Amino acid sequence: MSYQAMVLTVSDQGSAGLRPDTAGPAVVKLLEEHGYQVFHTAIVPDEQELIAKALVDGCDNCKVDLLVTTGGTGLSLRDVTPEATLAVLDREVPGIPEAMRYASLQITPRACLSRGVAGIRGTTLIINLPGSPKAAVENLAAVLPALGHGLDVLQGRGGNCGEVQHG
Ligand code: MTE
Repeated sequence: MSYQAMVLTVSDQGSAGLRPDTAGPAVVKLLEEHGYQVFHTAIVPDEQELIAKALVDGCDNCKVDLLVTTGGTGLSLRDVTPEATLAVLDREVPGIPEAMRYASLQITPRACLSRGVAGIRGTTLIINLPGSPKAAVENLAAVLPALGHGLDVLQGRGGNCGEVQHG
């Protein structure tokens, strides 16, 4: 099963052309290596309304299965990606950032500084990743093995939980 994905880079400098976007392409590469069809990427500045607008567009118009953001999850006053995401979500999926931070804490104590959230809008799963290419890839890699099943269930394709032994 191939899923359609969109990658949204959130960066003031990247959107102004002052710094090349390296995190977005790193996330695209990882998704493609795992069979995702990444058919749209975009860069927006750290502005809550612009981030929210891009998220709504990806979910409601493009109707991608997975929308991954990178950047704007830290403690700077300009970091508002989680707030923009929470404003457009129907339901949170807290286990995804929990798993990302758990895995990332084995790599760096600074993992706790990402405030990223995840959740569902319509039939799209949105996941916030940190902004450095290294951090974005490490965080996404931590949850990729679980995403296919979650997306299947979200899309009403049932999913395959495997053999479950009862009693
Ligand atoms: N997670 C992993 N796996 N690896 C990292 O290097 N960096 C942390 C954290 N999560 C990091 C990580 C740091 S230093 C910050 S400030 C936060 O992600 C938020 O990053 P952002 O502000 O670029 O979104």
